[in-house]
Amino acid sequence: MDQDALKKQAAEAALGYVEGGVVGVGTGSTVNHFIDYLATVKGRIEGAVSSSEVSTQRMKAHGIQVFDLNAVGDLALYVDGADESNHQLQLIKGGGGALTREKIVAAASAKFVCIADESKLVSMLGAFPLPVEVIPMARSYVARELVKLGGTPVWREGFMTDNGNLILDVQGLQIMEPAKLEQQINNLAGVVTVGIFALRPADVLILGSETGAKTVTA
Ligand code: 5RP
Repeated sequence: MDQDALKKQAAEAALGYVEGGVVGVGTGSTVNHFIDYLATVKGRIEGAVSSSEVSTQRMKAHGIQVFDLNAVGDLALYVDGADESNHQLQLIKGGGGALTREKIVAAASAKFVCIADESKLVSMLGAFPLPVEVIPMARSYVARELVKLGGTPVWREGFMTDNGNLILDVQGLQIMEPAKLEQQINNLAGVVTVGIFALRPADVLILGSETGAKTVTA
């Protein structure tokens, strides 16, 4: 099976967690498969809260109603992908640049189900360049501070987030204490969000694999 087929398998398995109400929906190629599966049960849900404009467009095209988070309060379920997960289900996210809205919807959800192909499970976070969303005027300052933390930040040129900000992708980090680094980077002036999801990790990780979807809990 190729990587996309494994993503699709994980997305289909996540449908088993959908019980109705308003579902939090993330962003990315794995989530695109989930949205397509969600559309098959749209009569059973009230709608969704979206973490990005691109997911919103895909859901609306399927006829899934998309709500503003402010209009619905806390959610029972959030389904999203990841760029990396360790065995504690702490994640690196933001490869698609939607990390800030993803972190907000994850924070507002009782259960976070992460879907990925099995290559995303790692023993230590950091091989995938860590995305950091930055206010435009702070780009160079934050980059210098990230160098002091041991990383090599690369500006994702030509990319603007849904919030009108920039992304620095930080290479060369070996993240031994994800929650500590999440707090350190989030505390830098000009940082909107870092793509470490350790303070609010996933609750369940579904991995597509050659032998079928595997469920991992911390
Ligand atoms: C977007 C994300 C995605 O969940 C992450 O990049 C994984 O994407 P994909 O499912 O395409 O592998 O965090 O900001």
